[in-house]
Amino acid sequence: MTNLMVSHNLNLVFTPTAPAKLSFVERDESINDDLVDALRTPGMQIVVYGPSGAGKTTLLVNKLNQLYENHVITRCMKGMTFEQILVDGFDQLNKYYTDEKSFSTKSSISLGIKSEYLSIKNSFEENIQEVSRRLVPVQLTPQRLGKFFGEMGICWVLEDFHKVEEPEKVKIAQIMKIFMDYSVDYPDLKILAIGAVNTAREVIKYDPEMKQRVAEIYVPLMNENELSKVIYSGEELLNIKFQSTVVKRTIKFSSGLASACHHLCLNMCRKEGIESTQVKTVTLNVTDFDKAVSKYVKSSSDTLKEIFDKAMKVSRSRKYNNPRIILKAILDLGKDELSYNEILTHIRIAQKEYPAGNLTSYLSKLQGQDRGSILRHDEISGLYSFSSPFVKAYSHCILTQTTKKGLSTIEVKLPIEELTKLILENLSEKLKAIE
Ligand SMILES: Nc1ncnc2c1ncn2[C@@H]1O[C@H](COP(=O)(O)OP(=O)(O)O)[C@@H](O)[C@H]1O
Ligand SMILES: [Mg+2]
Repeated sequence: MTNLMVSHNLNLVFTPTAPAKLSFVERDESINDDLVDALRTPGMQIVVYGPSGAGKTTLLVNKLNQLYENHVITRCMKGMTFEQILVDGFDQLNKYYTDEKSFSTKSSISLGIKSEYLSIKNSFEENIQEVSRRLVPVQLTPQRLGKFFGEMGICWVLEDFHKVEEPEKVKIAQIMKIFMDYSVDYPDLKILAIGAVNTAREVIKYDPEMKQRVAEIYVPLMNENELSKVIYSGEELLNIKFQSTVVKRTIKFSSGLASACHHLCLNMCRKEGIESTQVKTVTLNVTDFDKAVSKYVKSSSDTLKEIFDKAMKVSRSRKYNNPRIILKAILDLGKDELSYNEILTHIRIAQKEYPAGNLTSYLSKLQGQDRGSILRHDEISGLYSFSSPFVKAYSHCILTQTTKKGLSTIEVKLPIEELTKLILENLSEKLKAIE
């Protein structure tokens, strides 16, 4: 190895389940510039939204590291209350308020604020019998919390904010307002709310009067160019080379999801025994790709099943089994992307009376998280598709089995080996079509 070459660990290069750092690629200029502008504008609050897996968290974490000294991330969960969110933010500030170094480097921080922080912390400790029922001391108002964040120049990230219930969302919007009003004293103070949803309004419910001071940033799925940059960055860091066919296939199979791209690349490296930067360039070929896909399918079969089962669930008996009819039509038509009319026309060959309203309503439901977001809709082309080739192949296998055997989808229980084989056969037909 030349002494100029730095060695990197594979797990830090391809990161399917954590925000990429080494292999972080800048997103398209428009998204990037909007986010950077918003981060730099005093008092500007930020809502980041877009599909799950599009790269929201990764983008934000990397930009915050570039532009901010410190940030605190509160991970929201279903059922979390406004008070629990406040307390989480407060607790995470502890490390800054008790660390002597934070104080010596920030001479501007008054000792008064530190003792205020510690006094609230103490009143907490008096009633900590049960963490989930900790009473929030009356002194911990949103205003105070704003000051605690502001004095330290820390911004507050609310991750997965779409999971919080409506009434709590409204209360958080009020905190955003307080933070805005403090921007004169604390220009860095802001809340960044991230949500895996289609509109900023679904993330947070803020007053129309706040609109001027809330930046709404949409992070779309990655385009082919961005995905190829992820792959090339990994090649450089590890001194490896993916054959051009492999790059093409990886991009195709990732279908906009950077996590799938990281996962496939990681699997290929593992199969070749690559655990860190190579001394001599190693080439990865189509055989490695096939092995990686097979491993990916096996490891994600539970997730695929979950998505499919959510999509197919029927709450009560209806005249039409809408999810089944629609997914089957899309699969039968063979193409990756289809228009509304193509789908409707196809359904009506067998079900002459099928109501257009059902199609409209279910095409929309099948994109929602409740139904595993199994379908996607491209705003620009207006076309519908499965959310990934893997989900599509899985759906195809299960629906074909059920049709053949006259079973309901719940009754199909294929051994994982057989299922993997069927999915791989289906995917390899797809590859023939690309190349
Ligand atoms: N800009 C990027 N560069 C490289 N990898 C990325 C980038 N954005 C996302 N990823 C990868 O994609 C996956 C999903 O990203 P994440 O930020 O968790 O998406 P989201 O928060 O939108 O659900 C992670 O594995 C991450 O490493
Ligand atoms: Mg995220």
